[in-house]
Amino acid sequence: MSAQRVCSASGLEMDTPLRVELDGIAIAVVKDSDGEIHAIGDRCTHGDVSLSEGFVEGKTLECWAHGSAFSLETGAALNLPAYEPVPVFVVQIDGDDVLIDPTVTKEV
Ligand code: FES
Repeated sequence: MSAQRVCSASGLEMDTPLRVELDGIAIAVVKDSDGEIHAIGDRCTHGDVSLSEGFVEGKTLECWAHGSAFSLETGAALNLPAYEPVPVFVVQIDGDDVLIDPTVTKEV
């Protein structure tokens, strides 16, 4: 499996998660306020809800359902009720293309 284009970097709105699905894996793509682009698993580990419908705050994405925040850098759940991390995917930028390989997660 190789990295696939999911969107353009310039078209990604800051602090507004974009939900993409690659090979059946839901991924939340986020451009933070520093302009850095992250990709984490889109399913909250507390309940089966989409994190991309949540709120970006700095380097975190907060679940809209019960407020657990997940690190965009490590995937760690930073507060209860969620306690298990979400996967963090490696993001590649090629020109203006944002590329993600859903089989490659960051070692954190
Ligand atoms: S479903 Fe996400 S914190 Fe409960």
